[in-house]
Amino acid sequence: MPDIVPPEIERYAELHTSPENPLLSALAKATREKTEVPRMQVGHVEGSFLRLLTRAIEAKHVLEIGTFTGYSALCMAEGMPQGGKLITCDVDESAAKIAREHWKQSHHGKKIVFEIGPALDTLKKFRGPFDLVFIDADKENYLNYWNAVLPKVRKGGMILVDNVLWSGRVLDPKAESDKAIVRFNEAVSNDRRVELVMLTLRDGVTMAVKK
Ligand SMILES: C[S@@+](CC[C@H](N)C(=O)[O-])C[C@H]1O[C@@H](n2cnc3c(N)ncnc32)[C@H](O)[C@@H]1O
Repeated sequence: MPDIVPPEIERYAELHTSPENPLLSALAKATREKTEVPRMQVGHVEGSFLRLLTRAIEAKHVLEIGTFTGYSALCMAEGMPQGGKLITCDVDESAAKIAREHWKQSHHGKKIVFEIGPALDTLKKFRGPFDLVFIDADKENYLNYWNAVLPKVRKGGMILVDNVLWSGRVLDPKAESDKAIVRFNEAVSNDRRVELVMLTLRDGVTMAVKK
């Protein structure tokens, strides 16, 4: 499937976004060189969006589901005030090793706590309240993650969900992951606990505010 955003438009958007800092560029390079699916990383434009949003809402308590090599976590940590805490979790220890190697090179890395293990187990350990939650892990569990985290988000807090357009496969779902995203999108767009918008940013990002 093609990218939602044509590559030349994505490139134009990258060039007209504040430049990526050298540590994030190094992390993106290491991810390209050392992992099999580097495109799982949010990248410069979406990462910048995460940092700006985190900064704009002054998020001090952030939860991320799906760390991978730590790019999105570092972006959000950079947007958080001193003393902020970001909990991020994943099942992939080898990707987490790359994340840690880079986080420790930034003073924002101190804000990040990594938890290894299936996210649904990890979530049970934390009550919140969170100012911001970013969901970016296995698609089949998206609705489970949503239902597990929403009660832990403060009123007025945000949930961001990545890949909700799934390279356009939401229009013609075949694989189980396609159908899971479609079910998720239908369920949350009718969830009266939130107000939300689906953004056509990169692979689609749903942005929800808890009422
Ligand atoms: C799209 S990547 C995350 C990308 C990351 N947010 C970034 O921008 O660099 C999805 C991650 O979810 C992780 N994952 C898959 N199933 C999981 C589960 N049950 N619990 C926690 N993490 C899981 C994968 O190992 C993978 O690293």
